[in-house]
Amino acid sequence: MRAHAAMEEAPKRGAVAMNLLIVDDEETTRELCLAVAHQAGLNATAVASAEEALEVAELSAVDIVLTDLKLPKAGGLELLRTLRELHPQTAVIVLTQYGSIDSAIEATKQGALDYVTKPFRIEELRTRLEKAIHEVDLRQENRLLRDQLTNGQPGFGKLIGLSPKMQRVYKTIEKVSGHEYPVLILGESGTGKELVARSLHMLGSRKEGPFVPVDCSSLVPTLIESELFGYVKGAFTGAMQSKVGLLEAANGGTVFLDEIGDMPTDLQARLLRALQEKEIKPVGSTERRKINVRIIAATNRDLEAAIRAGTFRQDLYFRLNVVQVKLPPLRDRKTDIPLLVTSFLEKYSPVDEPVRAISADTMQRLMAYDWPGNVRELENCIERAVAMSSGPMIHTADLPSNLQYSTSERAPQRDELLPLEELERRAILRTLRETNGDKLSAARMLGIGKTTLYRKLKQYKLERAEEA
Ligand SMILES: Nc1ncnc2c1ncn2[C@@H]1O[C@H](COP(=O)(O)OP(=O)(O)OP(=O)(O)O)[C@@H](O)[C@H]1O
Ligand SMILES: [Mg+2]
Repeated sequence: MRAHAAMEEAPKRGAVAMNLLIVDDEETTRELCLAVAHQAGLNATAVASAEEALEVAELSAVDIVLTDLKLPKAGGLELLRTLRELHPQTAVIVLTQYGSIDSAIEATKQGALDYVTKPFRIEELRTRLEKAIHEVDLRQENRLLRDQLTNGQPGFGKLIGLSPKMQRVYKTIEKVSGHEYPVLILGESGTGKELVARSLHMLGSRKEGPFVPVDCSSLVPTLIESELFGYVKGAFTGAMQSKVGLLEAANGGTVFLDEIGDMPTDLQARLLRALQEKEIKPVGSTERRKINVRIIAATNRDLEAAIRAGTFRQDLYFRLNVVQVKLPPLRDRKTDIPLLVTSFLEKYSPVDEPVRAISADTMQRLMAYDWPGNVRELENCIERAVAMSSGPMIHTADLPSNLQYSTSERAPQRDELLPLEELERRAILRTLRETNGDKLSAARMLGIGKTTLYRKLKQYKLERAEEA
């Protein structure tokens, strides 16, 4: 109970908790800083040298570095300079000895956000860290707003949507695009995973390099290996010439491993090795070649469940899952539908006869529908409606048949296969209609308890169904 209460108390800072890296050669200081950082709601890691610090910064998303100025080899000032150069978005706080105010001032001149003098009181360090969190948060938000303003886009790059859920996605993209570590993008089909991957590539330092998408689900398992790693002449029947693999072809750029959850486990092991060693060995070759690629992976599967089921390797998951971008399904951000519709109307309507409007009735249907195929389904729907429409306005008749009726009134067609949840939802709705909204009788007719019915009504957001 107590542990639970303590967890509840930890400050929540949106989807992405901030990462703090502590650099100090004294173990007691590291321990103390770690404890304070956790209190302040930060994800914290501690290392003993500037060299280790740079390694961590290279591999993970560090928002704030708290470093001692006196370190064994390269000192804190040198670390600060390198960080300013390689990771300019990382904020740095320096720890200085009592009485050495000059070095603190020097650090601030070189771009340190703040300094704390040793020995410090716990309360003081905590306040400084909280101030830094606030500052970094503001900076990230400002960058985002500035980009949205300068682009004049109702979203971020090619991603459309202003809902809080999408803003959180943009913030993560913004935050990680300047780094090199892997990103794992999760989301249902059609939620924009590939768009996010492309944005990450275009915003990062590798934008001049290639962006190479690899669809792990469409490649024949026996071919994935040679596609990814390449092969040499004579490696197998039909290998008349050697071929460069996709991992090597993406040198200097980004490899987008799409549907990574569909990759066979033995290949997962080879991929992991290639990522760890930053080298590949083409099929049929004994020679190892260096690769220099950034990895972005995506899947619509639940990888943690796949790990439990033994179809996805946990070590590869850890490797890929340094930063996660979770894309919300469209039904969870319906306020973005009008913006998306407007942009798709512009995209698909002919220049000489633009379709500019959509009837209120039609918009209502679009808002009521659940979009299992997410943005892709909406985009297809608008493209089709534009083609069907005979004037500057889209009407309900221009919609595909499954959208001509709102979901609740729609009768299931014969032989139509529906997900169990949808069947259940419809059964509940129909029964409630039959009982004129009497939940007790409805529960009895459905053969479930009243509390179960209430739970399901809530789950399917049907609490007001009886009034409808
Ligand atoms: N936020 C968005 N704004 C504008 N267009 C979007 C957005 N999200 C997705 N789209 C469009 O929807 C379509 C599907 O997007 P994308 O291919 O990125 O989805 P996905 O998540 O990779 O889907 P799948 O899992 O099926 O591969 C594309 O045409 C894309 O341009
Ligand atoms: Mg995709």
